[in-house]
Amino acid sequence: MKTIQAGTYNVHFQQKAYKFLSNLVEDNNYSSVFILLDENTLEHCYPKFISNFATEKRIEVIEIESGEINKNIDTCIGVWNAITELGGDRKSLLITLGGGVITDLGGFVASCFKRGIDFVNIPTTLLSMVDASVGGKTGVDLGVLKNQIGLFANPKMVIVDSDYLTTVTEREIKSGTAEIIKYGLTYDTDLFNEIKNNKKLEISNLIQRSIEIKNEVVLQDPKEQNLRKILNFGHTLGHAIESFYLESEDKENLTHGEAIAIGMVCESFMSYKLLGFPAEKVNEIKEVILSIYKRTHLLKEDFSDIMELLKHDKKNINGQVNFVLLNDYEDYKIDCKVPEKLILESMEFYNE
Ligand code: GLY
Repeated sequence: MKTIQAGTYNVHFQQKAYKFLSNLVEDNNYSSVFILLDENTLEHCYPKFISNFATEKRIEVIEIESGEINKNIDTCIGVWNAITELGGDRKSLLITLGGGVITDLGGFVASCFKRGIDFVNIPTTLLSMVDASVGGKTGVDLGVLKNQIGLFANPKMVIVDSDYLTTVTEREIKSGTAEIIKYGLTYDTDLFNEIKNNKKLEISNLIQRSIEIKNEVVLQDPKEQNLRKILNFGHTLGHAIESFYLESEDKENLTHGEAIAIGMVCESFMSYKLLGFPAEKVNEIKEVILSIYKRTHLLKEDFSDIMELLKHDKKNINGQVNFVLLNDYEDYKIDCKVPEKLILESMEFYNE
């Protein structure tokens, strides 16, 4: 897998990446290195990481509890306190070792600590490899509202080592697959077809291609003024559904990928109704998604709560919900307003 140049930083792959990390630490003469992880990555990923990371610097490990529910400002305060107590300073480096919660939250913690220290992302889930760890979005949730607090800040380096995927569940792999489907639908139909045809998928190729696409998009529009909005396909309704399940104590949480997979089916349906996206492609998307993710029956009585949560989407301006829809595969339209009735209809379409 070839190194990807992502503007100010590089994404290095597999075993050779650790040498680049050791060099980075040496060249920048960091005062100390903090590793942010959770109980899962401490047990399953840290041993591999630490045996490959050669440094003379002082290393401190900071563990937080896993789970989206902990991606909040209170956890950040805990990490800031820990770094302070452990003598962190402006020349400290923070390495995040984990999934999207760790890389998003860790990037945010680093970017705010003493007005910003360097950080390196080492994603350990498919979702964080293909999406969260690359592109400079950092942040935390506000209650159940996803990623409401945060800033754009680039890491110094990203290390993608697909060996870590042996430590995650099949459900987590599927969660990341939803982001790959998103890249396929909005940017590279071949990628979607690879998943659709369920060829023997070479995961390292999928990861490399996904990061290349994300990088191409982000380099053109780092602050999401325009093109980058395509990376939100399926996420507008998907985030509201994810938040709804997060706040419903009697319902099992959905993974991020499961929620945005539902969002992609619904938003394809909206695309069909509003933009003439071909009906057979809507059905194709639905079929592919339902072949990967078991259907979550969205209860009609829950629709109004989901609609309420939609009002908090970050792309909303003046109270208007903005969707990214498709004219066709690889042909998108941003900032689409969708009548409430059609949003409800799209959830019924998903249920059918
Ligand atoms: N996850 C969407 C983005 O990074 O823009």
